[in-house]
Amino acid sequence: MSNVHALSARKADYDIHPLFTGRWSPRSFRNQPIEDAALFSLFEAARWAPSANNSQPWRFIYAKNGSQTWSSLLGLANENNQRWATNASVLIVLVSKTSHVRNGDSEPSPLRNHSLDAGAAWTNLALQATHAGLITHAIGGFDREKAREVLAIPEGFHIEILIAVGYQGERSALPEDIQLREQPTPRKALAGFYAEGRFNFSE
Ligand SMILES: Cc1cc2nc3c(=O)[nH]c(=O)nc-3n(C[C@H](O)[C@H](O)[C@H](O)COP(=O)(O)O)c2cc1C
Repeated sequence: MSNVHALSARKADYDIHPLFTGRWSPRSFRNQPIEDAALFSLFEAARWAPSANNSQPWRFIYAKNGSQTWSSLLGLANENNQRWATNASVLIVLVSKTSHVRNGDSEPSPLRNHSLDAGAAWTNLALQATHAGLITHAIGGFDREKAREVLAIPEGFHIEILIAVGYQGERSALPEDIQLREQPTPRKALAGFYAEGRFNFSE
């Protein structure tokens, strides 16, 4: 299924840019090499995300498919995720810095919003990828302890997510059980997400 299909499968109630509904998380990757310029434009988009105190706490560790470090990143994903992520063009571990030295201070102070900021950077990356005709899939199901060890991630950096990036393949190329899940997801009704003036949600 192409991104164009995805655009028509997800309808927004209000007028928004089609990138928002066009981004989804396919599992069928085509195993095609990605050029540095295409990859670095994703980090560039992430770079312009907003962050508390402009602290920019996101850091991306990547491995391209077929490179020396590829198998160590793929090996972090749990078995189910490895089955489809194996055909991504690049895998990226997103980590965030948990403290920084503020202007005028000598000691670091905690960055309370480091994960929120890293999430904003991931979203920028994903939307830029959609714009460029690439697909992305966030992976929470991976071994964070192993990631810290294998990738030499020091203390003071929180391990957020693994991200698969690449080119969309055919649904039929996926194992059968995964094919069933290969479609853009819907969303809850808009009215369930906002309330005026005070908290007024049933869940
Ligand atoms: C933080 C995070 C962790 C996720 N972990 C996984 C995962 O381990 N395996 C997987 O197949 N999808 C994973 N996903 C993908 C979500 O299931 C997907 O984003 C969600 O169902 C919404 O669908 P959409 O991205 O196609 O709009 C993850 C997404 C996020 C944001």
